[in-house]
Amino acid sequence: MSGSQLQGRRVIVGVTGGIAAYKACDLVSKLVKAGAEVRVMMTENARRFVGEMTFATLSGSPVHYDMWRERSEIDHIAMADFAEATIVAPATANIIGKFAHGIADDLLSTTLMTLTSPVIVAPAMNTHMLESAAVRKNLALLAERGVRVLECAEGRLACGEEGAGRLPNTQVLLDAVVEALAGESDQFAGLRVLITAGPTREPIDPVRFISNPSSGKMGYALAREARRRGADVTLVTGPVTLQAPSGVQTTRVSSAEQMHEAVQALAGEVDIFIGAAAVADWRPAEREQQKLKKSGSEEMVLRLLRTPDIIDAVGEWEPRPLIIGFAAETEDVVRHAEEKLRRKAMDLIVANDVSAPGAGFETDTNRATLIDVIGRETDLPLMSKAELAAEILDRAGCLIASRESQ
Ligand code: C5P
Repeated sequence: MSGSQLQGRRVIVGVTGGIAAYKACDLVSKLVKAGAEVRVMMTENARRFVGEMTFATLSGSPVHYDMWRERSEIDHIAMADFAEATIVAPATANIIGKFAHGIADDLLSTTLMTLTSPVIVAPAMNTHMLESAAVRKNLALLAERGVRVLECAEGRLACGEEGAGRLPNTQVLLDAVVEALAGESDQFAGLRVLITAGPTREPIDPVRFISNPSSGKMGYALAREARRRGADVTLVTGPVTLQAPSGVQTTRVSSAEQMHEAVQALAGEVDIFIGAAAVADWRPAEREQQKLKKSGSEEMVLRLLRTPDIIDAVGEWEPRPLIIGFAAETEDVVRHAEEKLRRKAMDLIVANDVSAPGAGFETDTNRATLIDVIGRETDLPLMSKAELAAEILDRAGCLIASRESQ
């Protein structure tokens, strides 16, 4: 999608001093290739990692870093006027702290303070730093203020440790820029959209639970996209590491039962329900009050009970919302999905083969088939979850319109 939506758009890329600064070269290069007009702003520390000449060449424009040297030619106010969107990638703990607390002591931090267009922050740092109370609080503050905070990727970090803290891949960064530039629409103004996201946790004892690897990314992308289209959005989310999308009423829950209750609390008050959560189908029949001991036995039997089916319960609501569900399958995807669409009386099902490369739980991309209640079946190519969210809501818009015309 990036191509046409970036053509002629003016984007600032802020680069700060982390080893991931070199990855910002790829971002700048792809933005320029897609037709964007890019200005790169570096901090002093970023210049220790990548030479300004690299960014100047890739962006086709001088790099900005010195408040004083450039005063006559370009200043932070002019930069703020230039930007239709700004992405800080990588964002260090330092720039995050400064941005969160209004400290403006160099060109990038000063410019961030003056921007009125959307800003995206893509943190990249050591896991312990990322998890420090200060950074978490600062990121939450920024998210609350409407800054789009991207989730770090996990993997091997420059310091040799494994964990969260890597800069997300270029496609995720590009998608965030495209989303920010897309601006608001009023397509869904006046519609109330309820979305479930993430996994659920079904406790065995105080320290163990049954769950699955759902990241919540699909549900969160849907919430952001529905919000962007002007809907009044509620997100009921299981435990994930994502920041709550701005402008979205977010309720955090843990178990399937809690998710069910949070959804039922809105019974009859919703126009579109999207069940993107990977709800556990089973929960331990008893939750032990104390941690279970190994006590020498080689076998342990857990008795499981069914959890409430959230989508089924939504199907009983009066008035009944438009219902969209997901079918994560590992074989015979379309047939299973069609059967589920009918059984759960959904209006639209998003079927994906979670065993296919690039599709499913923890990835940033997905490959899905949309099957709707009037028998239309659309096989979509591999795309980012943000793009898939837009496809799903386009289809939801059509279904709502055809309902209204009946
Ligand atoms: O039957 P299955 O669990 O695969 O159905 C998947 C769809 O149903 C998803 O949209 C999921 O969010 C929803 N679901 C639910 N409540 C459950 C289980 C699944 O809403 N207990």
